[in-house]
Amino acid sequence: MPDGQSRGEHEAPIRPEAIGAAAEASFANCDDERLRSLMQSLVRHLHAFVREVELTEWEWRAAIDSLAATGRITDPERNEFILWSDALGVSMLVDALAHPLPSGATESTVLGPFWAAGSPLRDYGESIFDFAAGEPAWVQGYVRDVDGRPIAGAELDVWQNDATRLYGVQDPEAPEAHLRGRFRTREDGSYAFLGVRPVPYPIPDDGPVGAMLAATGRHPWRPAHLHMIVSAPGYATLTTHFFDAESPYLDSDAVFAVKPSLLRRFVHRRADDPERPPSVTGDWWSVENDIALAFSASET
Ligand code: BEZ
Ligand code: FE
Repeated sequence: MPDGQSRGEHEAPIRPEAIGAAAEASFANCDDERLRSLMQSLVRHLHAFVREVELTEWEWRAAIDSLAATGRITDPERNEFILWSDALGVSMLVDALAHPLPSGATESTVLGPFWAAGSPLRDYGESIFDFAAGEPAWVQGYVRDVDGRPIAGAELDVWQNDATRLYGVQDPEAPEAHLRGRFRTREDGSYAFLGVRPVPYPIPDDGPVGAMLAATGRHPWRPAHLHMIVSAPGYATLTTHFFDAESPYLDSDAVFAVKPSLLRRFVHRRADDPERPPSVTGDWWSVENDIALAFSASET
């Protein structure tokens, strides 16, 4: 307090709640109603959190340092802010609010950081790798609408890891389109490709999110899965995975993205199985994954 001034006799010290109220009120003149509501609610919840946990100055500094480290490690290939959102369950919450499930449609889940634009369009039954570590898996299914009618010409953009745990985009030695591809459904809605049986893998844990997981006794693992974005004119685009029903970590996915309806069973097939895909030599796996697309909002 400047010299010669003292707090008036009846002037009470500022209460923590009043600071929040002032910060909230500072947005009162924001013309954009949605932005005003977002900022006021953010301030309200943030202040309530700080008061509830009685955040110390040291903890505040640690949080700021962690955000700064998050910015430093983020680049066009790696977005640590999204990883925070994933690891805190916020990505799945936003997804759940954006896609209230129309009955009968396949459920959505997170995109994740390993999708890449420009995957090659491949033929029905084609392999998504030239060479991959692990066991070949024949993936097949149908894309239909929620009334069970086949959707011809739907596009499936698929990507997955192999037994190295790496996605194609994570492996600098791998060919450009390794372990990914786009497929179009046939007249009867069917699609098929040769992938590999995916394996569990840790989310990138060498940055601030990994430090948080380690400090809190959480593991970074995701259960084995394949990713798909399925689209067709007149239908809501679906971003999803399907999970290996026998994978570890189904009940403790680091990013909370498992939904029971997305579990699929991989069936073991022998080399002498007459349905063996031509490019496969030894034992292999097959898995069926049917997709039901919701009509897009403008069509309903
Ligand atoms: C993924 O499934 O590729 C993924 C999703 C969220 C965070 C990290 C990886
Ligand atoms: Fe993934």
